[in-house]
Amino acid sequence: MTNNVQVLEAYKVVPVIQISSLDQVRPLAEQLITNDLPVAEITLRTKPSLTSLEVIAKEFPEILLIAGTVLNNQQAHSAFNAGASMIVSPGFSPQTIRFCLDNGLDIIPGAMTPGEMEQALDFGLKTIKFFPAEAAGGTKMLKAVSAPYKELRFMPTGGIHPANVNDYLALSSVVCCGGSWMVDPKLMADNDWPEVGRLIRHARTLTSNNSN
Ligand code: 3PG
Repeated sequence: MTNNVQVLEAYKVVPVIQISSLDQVRPLAEQLITNDLPVAEITLRTKPSLTSLEVIAKEFPEILLIAGTVLNNQQAHSAFNAGASMIVSPGFSPQTIRFCLDNGLDIIPGAMTPGEMEQALDFGLKTIKFFPAEAAGGTKMLKAVSAPYKELRFMPTGGIHPANVNDYLALSSVVCCGGSWMVDPKLMADNDWPEVGRLIRHARTLTSNNSN
């Protein structure tokens, strides 16, 4: 876990990606690597998501491969079999967490209430996805919960974009921020790979000086 979290901390941003066609996987992976953001959260919301994980795991091992929108332990199992190195869930599912811990698979569970944060700590998990970040109180909420939960660190996601990402990254409790703005599904559907690459590079440039 520590190693993967350190990688996330180094890159500061995690693109939340919806693959609608397998044709998108290789050009996307190339853009992530070329533009120095070898991190991908592939959401299990689309049909080709599991096969996309398999392709990236096999052909692009330099990418930190995360399965996102994992809602239960069966999906965690499928993502594990497909080669994901880490599981991210939008909500707090003890069964999913148990599966991951039992199988040595890193997990960042979603949590937005103090009760869920305490349960994460009970499982020995120190990093949670604060989701949906903006709707759940944003940086103000993170500052408030960091007072009692000093060991807890956050990957805020949901409503984060270029104009507010550095506000989150300025907090020492924030490991990295997730967001879908970095990889626009429409640009991928249009095969506009130069623009996909430009947005990835922009996210890196925008955040790389933020040292919290
Ligand atoms: C997620 O899938 O984790 C979030 O829905 C991404 O949120 P965003 O689209 O607001 O970045």
